[in-house]
Amino acid sequence: MEQEILGIKESALSELGSAQTREELQAIRVKYLGKKGELTRILRGMGGLSPELRPKVGHLANQVRAFIEEELERRLLVILEQEKQQRLEAEAIDVTLPGRTMRRGHKHPLTIVLEEIKDIFTAMGFDIAEGPEVEWDYYNFEALNIPKGHPARDMQDSFYITEEILLRTHTSPVQIRTMERMVPNLPVRIIAPGKVYRRDDDATHSPMFHQVEGLLVDRHCTLGDLKGVLLTFARQMFGEDREIRLRPSFFPFTEPSAEVDISCFSCKGEGCRVCSGTGWLEILGAGMVHPKVLENVGYNPEEVFGFAFGMGVERIALLKYGINDLRLFFENDIRFLRQF
Ligand code: DAH
Repeated sequence: MEQEILGIKESALSELGSAQTREELQAIRVKYLGKKGELTRILRGMGGLSPELRPKVGHLANQVRAFIEEELERRLLVILEQEKQQRLEAEAIDVTLPGRTMRRGHKHPLTIVLEEIKDIFTAMGFDIAEGPEVEWDYYNFEALNIPKGHPARDMQDSFYITEEILLRTHTSPVQIRTMERMVPNLPVRIIAPGKVYRRDDDATHSPMFHQVEGLLVDRHCTLGDLKGVLLTFARQMFGEDREIRLRPSFFPFTEPSAEVDISCFSCKGEGCRVCSGTGWLEILGAGMVHPKVLENVGYNPEEVFGFAFGMGVERIALLKYGINDLRLFFENDIRFLRQF
């Protein structure tokens, strides 16, 4: 009988060693220690033993029972620990993996250039003014001294909505709207950025493009003031070593009028491909506000003087970034836009 008890101990121990789950442990407990378990069966059968043997066998059986209980407990702890490890591995987050960064959007190149232009002029004291893109013929042409039938209208082939209403062909009408609002107050000192529309479409012309108009009206205002403002702009926009030059030109709403060039930033005036060998780049039109225009809005051209200028934002951006096709700005090709 002692042999049998020791045999039970051995087989219980080996079964415990290979048990992997709590359910298997429970089955072992029932098999050996349960009401109908093997050890229980032996203890019950001790009645048939001699009085000398009984305590000895009883003692051994109790020792083995205690031993199996202890082993069950120990094995349970091991299994619980294994289960915990498995759970942790299943839910594991590897904090050393590189993160997935979000691609950040950014401003359109025209917006970047426009904001730069605005910053430069507002720092000089200019306010931002706006006007409608659908405009009266009167503001777009008539009040700017471009009457019906004037040849200057040919250069701004337009989208008409009615005979008297059109998509503005330039930002100059904002000059008129601003002065009408201000008169008789002085000074008037604004820039007017915005979209303009013309019936043009090729590598250097788009039916919609952007201009920035400038206007300063005051009791004392000279061509020298205009030149100083434009030189400041040219240097801040294109580099401190830029020079500007004014070439005589014609606009119906300014007298005298000028085309304004900056010295080429690419070759510093030597002559290169960017400036077609001339050393100069044309960037805007400008002039002293025509007396007729001042009169049209109610200022006295004997007492009040002004200068005005107008530039194309796309042209400035093309020059600044060395781009040769203006249509790239409007195609929304992300490979192009990402470069700025
Ligand atoms: N409005 C003119 C254009 O679109 C540009 C311009 C020239 C504006 C001379 C001005 C100026 O204010 O003085 O062609």
